[in-house]
Amino acid sequence: MKNMIKNSSTAYQGYKIRRQNKPDDLLTDSNFGTPLGEYMRCFWQPVSLASQVTRLPKKIKIFNEDLVIFRDGKNQIGLMQLHCAHRGASLEFGVTQEAGGIKCCYHGIHFDVTGEIIEIPSEPDGGKRVMGRFCQPAYPTIERDGLIFAYFGNPDTIPEFEEWDSFSKENKTELVAFSNIYPCNWLQVIENIADQMHTATLHQPMSLYDGELPGEVDFDSFTLPSFSGIPVLDYHAVRDNTAMAFVAGRRMSEKLVWWRINECILPNLSHHAYLYEKGNARRVFHRVHMARWYVPIDNENSIIFGWRMFGPSIDPDNMGNMEQVGHDSIDFLGGQVAGSRTHKERQMLPGDFEAIVGQGEIASRIDEHRLSGDKGVVLFRKILSQALLNENIPLLASMMHLDPSNFFRSYSQNSILNIQSFSDGTKDRENIEAIGKKIIAIMASAPSAEPQRTDFVKAELEKLET
Ligand code: FES
Ligand SMILES: [Fe+2]
Repeated sequence: MKNMIKNSSTAYQGYKIRRQNKPDDLLTDSNFGTPLGEYMRCFWQPVSLASQVTRLPKKIKIFNEDLVIFRDGKNQIGLMQLHCAHRGASLEFGVTQEAGGIKCCYHGIHFDVTGEIIEIPSEPDGGKRVMGRFCQPAYPTIERDGLIFAYFGNPDTIPEFEEWDSFSKENKTELVAFSNIYPCNWLQVIENIADQMHTATLHQPMSLYDGELPGEVDFDSFTLPSFSGIPVLDYHAVRDNTAMAFVAGRRMSEKLVWWRINECILPNLSHHAYLYEKGNARRVFHRVHMARWYVPIDNENSIIFGWRMFGPSIDPDNMGNMEQVGHDSIDFLGGQVAGSRTHKERQMLPGDFEAIVGQGEIASRIDEHRLSGDKGVVLFRKILSQALLNENIPLLASMMHLDPSNFFRSYSQNSILNIQSFSDGTKDRENIEAIGKKIIAIMASAPSAEPQRTDFVKAELEKLET
C-alpha cells in the first residue's frame, strides 16, 4: 500500500524532536550557596502557619534544609536545624520547655530559641566549659497575622520586615493566613502570575470543549466569567526593576474599561487585585485581596504562604469565604490545590494547580516555544536573573531595604473607568494600552505617605476619564 502519511518539517516529528529536560539552575536551584539560594535568604520568608507551631516540635523543610520549629512555654518561636549539634539526634523528638527553649531527647542539652546552650546536664559543670564554643544553628523569626516568617541570611545584616501598604489593616481589613502546597519548583508557580494570558483559557474551561459540554463537570466553580476574551496586556518593570507590574486591560461595555494590575516582586512575592471583580460598575483604585510568597521546600517542591484580605473595603460584594482559607486550602476558583478530586475530574476540569504541576518537577524552559502573551514571564525571569547575577545594584536585597517607608508601595489594583469605546476595535485596544501605561505612570509618581497617596492616585485616575 502506498504511504499516504503526511510528510513535512512539522508533521509527525516525534522521532526527530527530543525534549532536553534541562532546568535553568540559576532560577530554580535554591540550595545553600547558589545565587538564588543566597538571594532568597536575604529576605524574610514565611515558613509556617502560626497555628501549626505548637509546644510539640514540628519537622519542616525550607530551601532543602531540614528544620524543626516549635513554640516554647514563653510563647517564643524556635526555628533550628533539625539535627542536634551534639550527636545529631532529631530535635523533632526534643521537649520544649516551660521556662523557654528545647531539650534534646538524647542527652538533654537545653537550647534557647536562639540556639545558644543553656545547660548540658551530663557535663560536670553543667556545660559551662563548652558554652560559647558550639550552638544549635538557629534562625530568627517573626510572628505576624497567622504566619511565621524567618530570616535565613547572614545574621549580621538582618533586614526590616517588608511592610507593604497592601498589608494594611485599615477599614477593618483582616489578613487571613493560608498555605498551598505545590509538588514542583517554586519558579513555575510564581510564573503563573506573570502569565496573564492563561485566564482567557484555563479559567474559561467551557471554551476548550467543542460540541456538547460534559454534564458531570461543574464549570461554574472553575470559571472567572469576567476574565473571558483576550486582554490587552502590558508589562512594566517598576521600583528600579525590583518588580514586574502586569497590566491587563479589558473592555467591559461601551463605556467601561477594567484595568487589573498584579505584581511579582523580587524575589518571590506577588500581589493580586480583587479576584471577584465583575467589571460592570465604575470602581477606582480598588486594592489587593491577596499577597503570596512562593517558598522552595526543596528544588522539586514548594509551598505558597500568603494572606487573603477580608473586609468591607477589599471585598465589598462579600464573595470570599474565610472558613476555606487555611492549610492547603483557599477560597477562590477550583483547582488551586491538590484537593480530593479524582484524577479524571482533574483531567476534565484542570485548574492552576494542574497547569503548573503538570509542567514537571522542575519545568524545562529550554523546551519552551514562547509566544507574544509570554512577555510577562520572560521579563520576570529577566529581572530575577539580573538580581542573581548582581547586574543591577537596586536589586540587591540590602538596597531594597534601605528605605522601607518609601519603598514598599504596591501598584496592584483594579480600576474600572468610564472610557468611551472607539468604533475601530484596533484603535480601542491601543487606547486601552495607552491608558494602562498612564496608570503605571500615576502610580510611579504618587507620594508614598497615606492618605495622600491614595487621594492622589484616585484624583489622577479620575482625570483619565475626562
Ligand atoms: S544528641 Fe542532642 S544532646 Fe546529645
Ligand atoms: Fe490562574
